[in-house]
Amino acid sequence: MRTSTRIPGIIIRAMRIEDYDQTAALWGATREIKVYSASDSREDIQKFLEMNRDTCFVADADGQIVGTILGGFDGRRGYIYHLVVEGAQRGRNIGSALLEKTKVAMRMKGVEKIHIFVPMHNNRNSVAFWESHGWQRRADLQMMSCTLETTAFMMAGTPAPQNKA
Ligand SMILES: CC(C)(COP(=O)(O)OP(=O)(O)OC[C@H]1O[C@@H](n2cnc3c(N)ncnc32)[C@H](O)[C@@H]1OP(=O)(O)O)[C@@H](O)C(=O)NCCC(=O)NCCS
Repeated sequence: MRTSTRIPGIIIRAMRIEDYDQTAALWGATREIKVYSASDSREDIQKFLEMNRDTCFVADADGQIVGTILGGFDGRRGYIYHLVVEGAQRGRNIGSALLEKTKVAMRMKGVEKIHIFVPMHNNRNSVAFWESHGWQRRADLQMMSCTLETTAFMMAGTPAPQNKA
């Protein structure tokens, strides 16, 4: 495992909403990750950055964004999303540098443990990266999800909004 050192021509800096167009284009061009229309919209990324302004970074090559990482903290655990390095730039330690930066920033916020969701379709390629950084697979957990749109209304005992003529 390489530790993060200076990478010629690359600056790791905080992500800003002004970076959105370039980062969205990078995510869209990265076949290993799925881009979800709602949570990856400009509006939702802006919200994410407002809540996590110290833990999201880009790799900037003279104005061109070639890598991203979104680090989120919910007050209990840290989560990493969209660690991506442009294809031609991989293997230069950029992914490791982005990860290191986020880990340090999260530690400073008091985070003790960080989770990452690795899509099954992307398992073979990226698991080697995480393992080379000492991350461990969890055999004791399964991920389960709930889409809140309808359920939230049911739980609150409030009828879902209806289209009225
Ligand atoms: C995963 C990713 C971010 C790594 O970025 P990178 O800049 O190429 O990584 P680094 O150069 O810092 O590599 C660090 C180490 O990880 C390992 N590694 C990185 N990518 C790997 C890959 N695709 N397969 C196997 N090992 C890999 C290497 O062993 C390397 O160690 P080394 O320096 O001893 O060779 C990049 O491959 C990527 O963008 N992949 C597509 C998006 C993705 O899958 N993201 C993760 C979502 S869970």
